[in-house]
Amino acid sequence: MKEITRKNILNIKPYVAGRPIEEIKRQLRLKKVIKLASNENPLGSSAKARIAIIKGLKSINRYPDSDGFYLKRKLAGRLWVKPENIILGNGSDELIEIIIKTFVEEDENVVTADVTFLEYEIIAKTIGRKVKKIPLKYFKYDLEAIRRNIDKKTKVIFIANPNNPTGTYVTKYELEDFIKDLPADLVLVLDEAYDAFIDVNDFPNSLKYIKNKNVIILKTFSKSYGLAGLRVGYAIANQEIISSMEKARQPFNVNSLAQIGAIAALDDKKFLQRSRKLILQGKRYLYAAFRKLGLIYLPSVSNFILIDVGREGVSVFNDMLKSGVIVRDMEQYGLKNYIRVTVGKRKENERFIKVLKKVL
Ligand SMILES: Cc1ncc(COP(=O)(O)O)c(C=O)c1O
Repeated sequence: MKEITRKNILNIKPYVAGRPIEEIKRQLRLKKVIKLASNENPLGSSAKARIAIIKGLKSINRYPDSDGFYLKRKLAGRLWVKPENIILGNGSDELIEIIIKTFVEEDENVVTADVTFLEYEIIAKTIGRKVKKIPLKYFKYDLEAIRRNIDKKTKVIFIANPNNPTGTYVTKYELEDFIKDLPADLVLVLDEAYDAFIDVNDFPNSLKYIKNKNVIILKTFSKSYGLAGLRVGYAIANQEIISSMEKARQPFNVNSLAQIGAIAALDDKKFLQRSRKLILQGKRYLYAAFRKLGLIYLPSVSNFILIDVGREGVSVFNDMLKSGVIVRDMEQYGLKNYIRVTVGKRKENERFIKVLKKVL
């Protein structure tokens, strides 16, 4: 197989996803398993979305609307932009791929942070594009170092804001400074997958940049809206950027149930409010519990927390798994002594703390 596989593919370390609940139940013969590993919504999904999806089932013999007319129109109304400023994707993962395919020539590079969401690097490398990873500074994106490392061949910069897995964020002042003197011929991607959980006042209003700058904002229905299984996300940018990206996507990239579910989810403001409240309460509980256990953690503006467990995160992860609690070890991210936990429901958080205490 080695002879026929492209070299960049052979060299790629595949993305390790959070372990599914069913898999752990099956493999470890456990009855009760909780998953706090993939930054999903612990409340499930909006009932309105589920009802709409059931109704939509009768039309699955038809291809989905290739243009996503109704979903784009609804999003545009919410965001005060035109539908032409929006492209839909099979999760924001797909939009990351479309961005790189659309803008990065063979000899150009992508710049992002080390440590950040792994898919920027993995996708760029599968397409055969070089990636420059700039170390974080105090667990935050180091925008000054990123600026210094931009070269003539840099085409796209990916900033996860808030950052996964650290839960830290770039403030509006830092972003303003950074954008001010960015070269005009490169594209800045602000990945705001977790924007609904933000609990600070100085988070950037990134939409203000799309008019005059090559800025692409990524959003997803996978986190706060609880629709990770449907795979639907979107990007917002100026019309030229969007129309270029539209050329690089597959015609039916977002399935009909995902479009229907997303439209209904946008109407369920109560679900969103409940989700946000649960995360904020959950974080308070977890922070207090970590302090009691003497553990160092990073305060997070998102729905996950990075914790220094003082020994190999992989072994903590494996030990917790045996007790039916799935978290994420951070080995793939190069953070050996850390685990990342997604904030869950009260009972899940309590069980997580109980098991963590036992394991440590
Ligand atoms: C920062 C960031 N961006 C994008 C994604 C992918 O989201 P989606 O489910 O929309 O592909 C994730 C998922 O964990 C993420 O953490």
